Amino acid sequence: MINQTVRGTKDLLFDEWYRFKYVQQTASEISSLYGFLPVETPIFEYTEVFTKTLGDSSDIINKEMYTFNDKGGKSITLRPEFTAAVVRLLVEKKLQTPIKLFSTGPAFRYERPQKGRQRQFHQINFEAFGVEDPKADIELITLAQHLLTEFGIDKNVRLEINSLGDGETIGKYREALISYFKKFQNDLSEDSQNRLIKNPLRILDSKDKTDKEIISGAPKISDYYTKKSLSFFEQILNGLTILDIPYTVNDKLVRGLDYYCHTVFEFVTEDLGSQGAVFAGGRYDNLVSSVGGKHTPAIGFAGGIERVMELTNYLVKEERAVCLIPIGKEAEEHALTLANELRRNGLYVIYEYSGTLKTRMRKANQADAKVALIFGDEELSSKTLKIKDMDLGEEKTIARNNIIKSIHQVYGQNRKSRFW
Ligand code: HAM
Repeated sequence: MINQTVRGTKDLLFDEWYRFKYVQQTASEISSLYGFLPVETPIFEYTEVFTKTLGDSSDIINKEMYTFNDKGGKSITLRPEFTAAVVRLLVEKKLQTPIKLFSTGPAFRYERPQKGRQRQFHQINFEAFGVEDPKADIELITLAQHLLTEFGIDKNVRLEINSLGDGETIGKYREALISYFKKFQNDLSEDSQNRLIKNPLRILDSKDKTDKEIISGAPKISDYYTKKSLSFFEQILNGLTILDIPYTVNDKLVRGLDYYCHTVFEFVTEDLGSQGAVFAGGRYDNLVSSVGGKHTPAIGFAGGIERVMELTNYLVKEERAVCLIPIGKEAEEHALTLANELRRNGLYVIYEYSGTLKTRMRKANQADAKVALIFGDEELSSKTLKIKDMDLGEEKTIARNNIIKSIHQVYGQNRKSRFW
């Protein structure tokens, strides 16, 4: 085991690293257009931050957390998601609401690894605090859709939405589900039998075949909406229609975390096998007050970076290099100074430490350099260099003190930044 990664974790190399950063960077930039401020919480928290918020019936709490006692005997958990930690931050730092917070980084769940599912995975996470208005829900979903378009994956991903209604709705629906599922108690899967007591809504999530048949006859949440809940949901659906965001109402969508009320949604795809949710979230109006904060309505969602990366065709547009080709001992020495000067002017420079003109030209070609700078004794004494456009094969002599400008002229408009 000394030379392999832990199951469910991954190294990120080269292009993949850039693709990963591209997703984070794009999410951060686009979130700022919607007024989100960036925050970063630690990757571990006191265990209660999660156990008091995510819900007893959630898989995360029951079987997926990386929890350990630190050397001081405190129970610590690697964050399995961001929402609870960001709520902890909001309450602890007494941040003024309304406020919108963006964060990104790793999260940890002890799940069975498969395509699109890791034990260390990464999220882009968006939370909007302090807004009761359904416009906040619409705006967040619009942001999610905006991101999908930016990543070029909006065609493969569709929005499923549901409303769990308010406390009264959930309470009544819960009772209705309990009395319905009790009739089939012995036929339900073990997981669903446990959920019947803890959180019967989660049974609707079951993938078990027999459960699914039973679920098809279960009461529908829409029959239990209070007037207020229904109107809230309708306003959101109307908003989505006005903004041309296609959606499907899925009345079985309940989400795997217990803190939600009213709106829940998932952007799902068929292209990732069974791990279909790319972005997922919802409203959680009672979470902040349940951990000691003021009553603060809130809504948020998170996206799995690995899942976005699986779907996007984003190619790293790596900058093409300036290749130095010194000829002779003095020129070799000058190459160090020249490389230093060019790099400090923001140019990507490569050069071999030794070799003939021919082998160095071959290497410049292999590296797909855009510009070659060729200089020997003659150029050094006349304070000039030969510059070659490697695409056109054109070579000309330029003044040494005009070098940066001359290089930019060869690149023209097409020079890409080193990273994106
Ligand atoms: P979640 O549905 O547990 O919600 O996760 C959100 C997204 O994280 C998923 O849709 C998926 O893309 C990604 N994800 C989750 N688990 C894994 C995994 N094991 N491997 C790879 N990707 C994964 C939450 O985490 C909520 N905190 C979202 C939220 C924010 N609700 C309100 N605000």
